[in-house]
Amino acid sequence: MTTAHQQRPAAERPAPFTIRGKEVSECEWEQERRNAAERFKKSGCPARAVDWVKAWQRGTIKSARDDWANHLESVQSAFCGTGATFALVSEGRGTGKTTLATAAARHVCEQGASVIFQRAAFLLSRIRASFQREARENEHAIIREFLKPRLLILDEMGERKESEWEGHVLSNLLCARHDDARDSILIANHDAATFTATVGESIADRMREAGGVIEFRWPSFRARSRE
Ligand SMILES: Nc1ncnc2c1ncn2[C@@H]1O[C@H](COP(=O)(O)OP(=O)(O)OP(=O)(O)O)[C@@H](O)[C@H]1O
Ligand SMILES: [Mg+2]
Repeated sequence: MTTAHQQRPAAERPAPFTIRGKEVSECEWEQERRNAAERFKKSGCPARAVDWVKAWQRGTIKSARDDWANHLESVQSAFCGTGATFALVSEGRGTGKTTLATAAARHVCEQGASVIFQRAAFLLSRIRASFQREARENEHAIIREFLKPRLLILDEMGERKESEWEGHVLSNLLCARHDDARDSILIANHDAATFTATVGESIADRMREAGGVIEFRWPSFRARSRE
């Protein structure tokens, strides 16, 4: 019989519940799981990518390419309060950029931090709408909202007008996030050189310090799934 003061052999002891290396009760662990799921739900990541990532994490589906998983590993391992700014780029469509950013978002939510996923054009049109006299929000409040999350994902960076004003807004936001040690992922359908030229030198230079441009050099997964 095992008395209260006797240690049971390790094999008989249930695995402890931990959150980021700290031992917690089962109840706290369950609550943290629910909080992470809620943060991920609120992040705005696209439903199709969310479903794919959940199935991939459960092991129901596999990545069609190892280099996709390697890119995810490089991005996730850099997210440690360094203010990394990554660009995920490919000339062709359907290479898994949005899905990879969504997987990174889930990882960040599980690390106890918040994420915002937004298309660049939607953010810019929201700011433009705030200039109307009858607008219910102002530009500063919107910028503050996008400065806050640990990870900001701006998708379809190439699908905007690329006016000087848009360049200034995005550059100010992303430089401030980088300087404040907050991570960002920028997604565009460009080659690396075009992306660096269009994003502007302030961001490009910061990306050399922490982060970088990752090119997805393979054909569309969409074409593959129709075969
Ligand atoms: N690693 C992967 N292995 C297999 N299929 C994948 C992988 N990543 C994404 N997919 C699938 O490929 C399709 C395209 O993915 P996704 O939308 O992320 O690509 P994208 O590069 O963002 O495309 P676009 O350039 O059109 O924005 C989706 O149906 C997705 O489920
Ligand atoms: Mg996409």
